[in-house]
Amino acid sequence: MTISVGTWLITGAARGLGFEIAREVLRRGGRVAGAVRNPMASDALKGVARGPDQLFVVPLSSTNSAVERARAHFGGLDVLVNNAGYGFLGAVEEAADEEVEAVFRVNVFAHIGRELSAPVS
Ligand SMILES: NC(=O)c1ccc[n+]([C@@H]2O[C@H](COP(=O)([O-])OP(=O)(O)OC[C@H]3O[C@@H](n4cnc5c(N)ncnc54)[C@H](OP(=O)(O)O)[C@@H]3O)[C@@H](O)[C@H]2O)c1
Repeated sequence: MTISVGTWLITGAARGLGFEIAREVLRRGGRVAGAVRNPMASDALKGVARGPDQLFVVPLSSTNSAVERARAHFGGLDVLVNNAGYGFLGAVEEAADEEVEAVFRVNVFAHIGRELSAPVS
């Protein structure tokens, strides 16, 4: 029995876990819309795809817009991996409000369609 790998949208696909998932989907013959905040940093992703029929790099400003662009490009999506995000380490009483809010914006609200924004450094 052949199981189709299908078409995946993976946010944060330029590096880390998102890149590894994308690489495996591409290796198995699936199609990947790789949503990245800096399309200039997508060379590694392009290096493992056989061509534009298999990989579509989409700028990541919000998950909703990436979904729409990826669906328009490939004609549909089978799997969404909402991977883009980051960890925030620190004591609650030492964290600034904007640092905590930024974590929730990126790691929670972006996944339900709000705009992504850069983490506070
Ligand atoms: N690794 C772990 O042990 C672990 C544990 C628990 C949860 N997680 C979560 O799993 C996911 C992947 O982890 P990882 O270890 O692969 O992390 P990583 O190597 O730091 O990669 C994070 C990815 O998310 C993207 N990203 C981060 N902040 C963003 C923002 N504000 N807007 C758009 N994209 C953003 C990064 O894009 P750029 O390349 O542009 O920076 C990168 O592609 C993250 O959400 C992380 O919080 C990881």
